[in-house]
Amino acid sequence: MMSTSKIVGIALIAMVISGIIVMAEEDKRDATLYAGLKSCRMCHKKEAAGNQYQKWLDGPHSKTFEILASDEAKAIGAKLGVAEPQKSAKCLKCHSTAYNWGDKPVVEKIKPEDGVVCESCHGPGKNYKSKSIMKDQKACIENGMIYPATKSCVKCHNEESATWNPERYTTKDGKKVGFDVEQAYKKIEHPNPNLHK
Ligand code: HEC
Ligand code: HEC
Ligand code: HEC
Ligand code: HEC
Repeated sequence: MMSTSKIVGIALIAMVISGIIVMAEEDKRDATLYAGLKSCRMCHKKEAAGNQYQKWLDGPHSKTFEILASDEAKAIGAKLGVAEPQKSAKCLKCHSTAYNWGDKPVVEKIKPEDGVVCESCHGPGKNYKSKSIMKDQKACIENGMIYPATKSCVKCHNEESATWNPERYTTKDGKKVGFDVEQAYKKIEHPNPNLHK
């Protein structure tokens, strides 16, 4: 027979574990707190500070809307009963920040055409985008910045992706995986050299 204290102990552990699981799953983001690409661009396009805007523009996340018009996208859509990927939430929930992972465009300041912008990774910026807060990493985090932003990748890079390839990446120890955050981040990194002196 289990003692009452053991049962209480097990129940407590179960509650803590389920709490952690719920927290991990629930990275819900308030659609009214997005500042929009123009806001981030205003301060993050200086060459001397790493021009994050240009790096984004040159990378895959600025083209996530565009590629939904490709023949490849249409073929993928056809198999899933999606006639027009550029109009379907089934694709745009991950291919655009505007959808905020939901079933319709809900972000006023971001259009589906903008693709996956800064705030899909860094978190909605309305409360952290002022200069005085931006200069202080701790204050940024307190005001909604997601740090490290690599926590956001798997909200889209997961097996729900229509093009998920479980062998896309090969890890250091030779394992095939669908996503490897370290290698993937290397492909899109946009550091500010002033912060790493
Ligand atoms: C008013 C200008 C301004 C705006 C608007 C702005 N930033 Fe910044 N940001 C800064 C400054 C200044 C820093 C600090 C780095 C520095 O001093 O060069 C910074 C730092 C950052 C950092 C690094 C934080 C750290 O310490 O790890 C990130 C990430 C960032 N900004 C993202 C964004 C995003 C995303 C947006 C749009 C929602 C945005 N910023 C809008 C000025 C701005
Ligand atoms: C769960 C998020 C998610 C959903 C839903 C999603 N995608 Fe994607 N899509 C991605 C990611 C992440 C990539 C980058 C490659 C990868 O890991 O699958 C991508 C890449 C692509 C590419 C580029 C080809 C490639 O292999 O890199 C096409 C085309 C595409 N998606 C079409 C679609 C279409 C069409 C739909 C809707 C039927 C859709 N996606 C739904 C996340 C998603
Ligand atoms: C696909 C996700 C993603 C997108 C999109 C993205 N970033 Fe980042 N960014 C990161 C990650 C990951 C880092 C590394 C630091 C961290 O983990 O927070 C980073 C770092 C930064 C830094 C700090 C650089 C440093 O040296 O510490 C700034 C500033 C920044 N991003 C601004 C932006 C701006 C502005 C945009 C949009 C034009 C943008 N980012 C788009 C994921 C992203
Ligand atoms: C809001 C959804 C979303 C988030 C969050 C996101 N991505 Fe993506 N990512 C995509 C989509 C959609 C594509 C396909 C675009 C294309 O192939 O042109 C993509 C493509 C890529 C690619 C090119 C395909 C490949 O695997 O080589 C890289 C690299 C990448 N993302 C890295 C990252 C990293 C690193 C993070 C986190 C810091 C991240 N992404 C966060 C949606 C997202």
